[in-house]
Amino acid sequence: MENTMTETQAAMRKENEGTAVEAGSRATERFTASGKLATLDVPKERVSLLAGAAIKAINDIAVEHQVTYEEYHALKAWLIKVGTDGEWPLFLDVWLEHTIEDVNSAERPGAVGTIEGPYYVPEAPVLPTPATLQMREDEPGTPLLFKGRFTDTDGKALQGAQVEIWHADAHGFYSQYAPELPEWLFRGTVKADENGCFEINTKRPAPYQIPTDGACGQLIAAAGWHAWRPAHIHIKVSAPGHQPVTQQLYFPGDPHNEDDIASAVKPELMLDPRPRTDGGEGEEVVYDYVLAREGQTK
Ligand code: DHB
Ligand code: FE
Repeated sequence: MENTMTETQAAMRKENEGTAVEAGSRATERFTASGKLATLDVPKERVSLLAGAAIKAINDIAVEHQVTYEEYHALKAWLIKVGTDGEWPLFLDVWLEHTIEDVNSAERPGAVGTIEGPYYVPEAPVLPTPATLQMREDEPGTPLLFKGRFTDTDGKALQGAQVEIWHADAHGFYSQYAPELPEWLFRGTVKADENGCFEINTKRPAPYQIPTDGACGQLIAAAGWHAWRPAHIHIKVSAPGHQPVTQQLYFPGDPHNEDDIASAVKPELMLDPRPRTDGGEGEEVVYDYVLAREGQTK
């Protein structure tokens, strides 16, 4: 990926990357430990309908494409490896979550969402606005001031709103998933003020390559695809009495905005970086959030 990654970045990546098994296993452990499993209760009728439809779809593919035993054995070996590498969260979040998100947000007015991905960590340090995310001394990257305001769908300022933010560093690594990064690097929970306004100081993240040395990487290489996601900032916004939104924000001009491996880019999520109005170093982006009330639909 010569166009987005310098040799130095490639060398840094080697040094800090850890292995796909490490990142994958952590994502698997986090998902297993998250509250998401405690409340699962899928009715028998839905299981039968959905599992039946999925099984039929795969069988139809086998007929349509005349799948050989060699291909069937390759599939079986690969599915086993996805599990042993702990990469089910990565696989599902890259190749399926975008559709689940579309289906579930279709009727929600206000801010546009996209996939959460595998690297969210709840309960990041709470910071009042104006906030500065945790960084190392001499943190590389372009300083970025991210500002915005929360309103409801009537344009009224929202009280008690917060922005949970997490993103990769300038080499494309996420804290708590790549070794040796400070625990809460580029992660925070920023409380908006009484007018619904917030300001977050951070640094522009780099494009991110999903782990290439595990089962997902093996599939990508075998199919001749690429592993890149465009640079992005992950966000979860919420306010009491309102529907939360999970999204990502992107930067114009990234070579992978058009061919994101996770299909998670939407035009509404594109930032417009400008020189800072306060004379500070780096760039500034403004993104405002309209949140729908609980139960409100389009
Ligand atoms: C993956 C990583 C991300 O940062 C993301 O936003 C989506 C998916 C992944 O490795 O699967
Ligand atoms: Fe990400």
